[in-house]
Amino acid sequence: MDMPTRTRVVYVLAACCLVGLYCSPVAISLLLRSLPEDIGNERPILGILAQETDKSFQKHGSSYIAASYVKFIESAGARVVPIRLNRSDEEYNKIFHSINGILYPGGGADLKTSEFSRVAKIFYDKALEANEKGDYFPIWGTCLGHQLLSYLTSGEDLLTWTNTDNFALPLNFTKVAKDSKMFANFPDDLLQEMASEPVTSNFHFWSLSVQNFSTNEILRHFYKILTTNVHDNVLFISTMEAYSYPLYGVQWHPEKNPFEWRNGTGIPHSRAAVKVTYYIADFLVNEARKSNHRFPSKKEETEALIYNFNPVFTGTFSSFEQAYFFD
Ligand SMILES: *[C@@H]1O[C@H](CO)[C@@H](O)[C@H](O)[C@H]1NC(C)=O
Ligand SMILES: *[C@@H]1O[C@H](CO)[C@@H](O)[C@H](O)[C@H]1NC(C)=O
Ligand SMILES: *[C@@H]1O[C@H](CO)[C@@H](O)[C@H](O)[C@H]1NC(C)=O
Ligand SMILES: *[C@@H]1O[C@H](CO)[C@@H](O)[C@H](O)[C@H]1NC(C)=O
Repeated sequence: MDMPTRTRVVYVLAACCLVGLYCSPVAISLLLRSLPEDIGNERPILGILAQETDKSFQKHGSSYIAASYVKFIESAGARVVPIRLNRSDEEYNKIFHSINGILYPGGGADLKTSEFSRVAKIFYDKALEANEKGDYFPIWGTCLGHQLLSYLTSGEDLLTWTNTDNFALPLNFTKVAKDSKMFANFPDDLLQEMASEPVTSNFHFWSLSVQNFSTNEILRHFYKILTTNVHDNVLFISTMEAYSYPLYGVQWHPEKNPFEWRNGTGIPHSRAAVKVTYYIADFLVNEARKSNHRFPSKKEETEALIYNFNPVFTGTFSSFEQAYFFD
């Protein structure tokens, strides 16, 4: 081989490497990561953590997700991947790097001993580490999920019994709420309705009191209280967001208002109540748009989506109209 040919080969190889690098998934994800925030990820996918089934649900599967959480996320332009229990660490790691945020739903699992809590901690630890490195990953906790966030952050169960079961309440906004990330894009008239009309649905026996929160050094420095409520003479935290991480907790159920019709007065269906759901869902999904995690392939994405499962009509024997079940 004479010198010019060898040089040509080197040039061709270098060109191939450049093209290869340019088209490789690494290069593409680097490119996507450098997109400005207002473009974001327009195909967000949120995980919803499944929870152990109780007696009335056990014949359908070992874990479940109430369909209202799925509809809540889908209504704002995202898709859902169920995060099933009892999977390997390797599988959870893969899912974490494929989804754009996770929702911890309400329910009845034990904060300390459940598989629900164990898996939640895996994603919580990964999310904190990722966010610290600039890899945006939101976590949303609803009801038990909100209580779980307080447990995962503080390492303590600081809840107190308030028996706030089946109550629709307005929210008491704190002074800092108007500067929050969560409520920043809510219209003023809706915020006024939220403060004066019973638009939030409460189904919790336990609550995180402002007293216990404020005397806990870790929680106090980690979360900002956005709203409170009083029940059973206890002033409790109904909405919070973390100061330096995209972590959000609501003691109430934004997903129920448009999608759950259980008897009783606890679920408001007024126009304002339904609007609250849409604005919260829009906020959460937009947080997920800031994450550029992707499934490694279309095939893996397709296989993980909740569309692979069919919801069951459970309205005749449970508080949920429909639920998804898993083994
Ligand atoms: C998880 O695995 C354990 C041990 O096999 C089993 O007892 C438990 O029922 C499983 N839980 C769920 C929710 O699948
Ligand atoms: C504070 O937390 C403890 C559990 O650590 C609980 O027993 C107590 O009722 C809580 N008190 C209030 C006022 O929330
Ligand atoms: C809002 O706070 C006030 C004063 O603490 C309290 O009296 C009222 O019951 C609270 N409202 C709700 C809906 O919790
Ligand atoms: C709802 O209320 C109706 C009428 O009061 C009753 O017949 C029905 O059993 C109730 N359903 C549930 C799920 O509680």
